[in-house]
Amino acid sequence: MSHSTARPDLVPADPLTNHEYDGIREYDNPTPGWWYWMFGASVAFSFAYLIFFHFSIAGWTPEDTWADEQRAEFVRLFGSVGQLKPDDETILRSMDNPQFMTIAKASFIGACSACHARDGGGLVGVNLCDENYKNIKHVSDIFKVITDGANAGAMPAWKRNFSDNERVILAAYVASLRGTQPSNPKAAEGQPIPAWKADAGK
Ligand code: HEC
Repeated sequence: MSHSTARPDLVPADPLTNHEYDGIREYDNPTPGWWYWMFGASVAFSFAYLIFFHFSIAGWTPEDTWADEQRAEFVRLFGSVGQLKPDDETILRSMDNPQFMTIAKASFIGACSACHARDGGGLVGVNLCDENYKNIKHVSDIFKVITDGANAGAMPAWKRNFSDNERVILAAYVASLRGTQPSNPKAAEGQPIPAWKADAGK
């Protein structure tokens, strides 16, 4: 039973544990302290990682960063666009500008998706993809709602967060959501209104 006779040089300092399975015994040789420290540190790190990157507390997800960079780029581009009028015609025309739509989509995902869902299907905020609207009769009313809010602030006012031009193209982007198929549509609210093209040349 003694393990020290054959190779006395290999005798470990650790005593044997006193359990035995199928004649096999093991030394009491626990995982070293540094290993536990690394394990504990990585568990702690994983919580911080989860909170920052998964729940986007600090706006550090790749999507958020990308949206911010696109907005910055657009603000730069707007220098050459001049002032967009918040009227029906300009908003309808902006819907056909792919660059405007890309940027406005990034703003929408950053500022609006928390309440209206990323695809506009609605969460706390209304479904922006269906044919019914509560505060909108004409496409330019979308600009007004974005600017001043609605329903006593349930829909916040965005005039301090976005420039006039940004709100014009956001309105165009919201208008473009109409008729799309969101993954989880909220039930329609408000009344059905005429198609946007009724606002053209009005
Ligand atoms: C805090 C939640 C919240 C956020 C964020 C939010 N909305 Fe809203 N939004 C609402 C609610 C609630 C309504 C419905 C208001 C009502 O009942 O009249 C609404 C209504 C609207 C409407 C009018 C729809 C209609 O049928 O009359 C538009 C357009 C709109 N939001 C666009 C936006 C845009 C664009 C953004 C981002 C810049 C945004 N919202 C961000 C909550 C929000």
